[in-house]
Amino acid sequence: MNKNILLFSAMICFLSPSVFATDGKKVFETYCWGCHHQTAVAFGPSFEEIASKRNVQEIKAMITDPKSVSKVFGYKRNAMPKFKLSDENLSAITEYIFSYKQESNITVLEKPQAIDKKVK
Ligand code: HEC
Repeated sequence: MNKNILLFSAMICFLSPSVFATDGKKVFETYCWGCHHQTAVAFGPSFEEIASKRNVQEIKAMITDPKSVSKVFGYKRNAMPKFKLSDENLSAITEYIFSYKQESNITVLEKPQAIDKKVK
């Protein structure tokens, strides 16, 4: 009986992805939370907004070198500090940011083109 319970808890631990995978949410709560919010504008822009206008490289570059990248993005002043994250954490937080990308941004890309030309 006891053995079964042990085996069962071991299985739950094993199956729970958060035990192993680097959790983007955790990275967010540790480093970004004071200044960014997922969907609302805080001191910095929301993750929803960031995901709608930046790609993976841009986001990673901003986290590791905000001083130069914020200039490229058109900010007059740089208020975001630089972060030294492991590759794993950097990918996890970038993925986390993209999880707030809204569907509406995708439909813009799927706008039908050249239909007007064919239909007279
Ligand atoms: C001290 C506050 C602060 C912290 C902490 C912070 N940011 Fe920022 N972030 C800002 C501000 C302010 C901006 C706007 C640009 C600037 O001032 O440099 C910004 C801009 C950004 C941008 C670019 C926005 C755009 O225009 O696309 C990204 C991406 C970003 N932050 C991600 C993060 C991530 C990820 C973390 C956590 C690892 C983080 N930030 C932590 C304040 C912060």
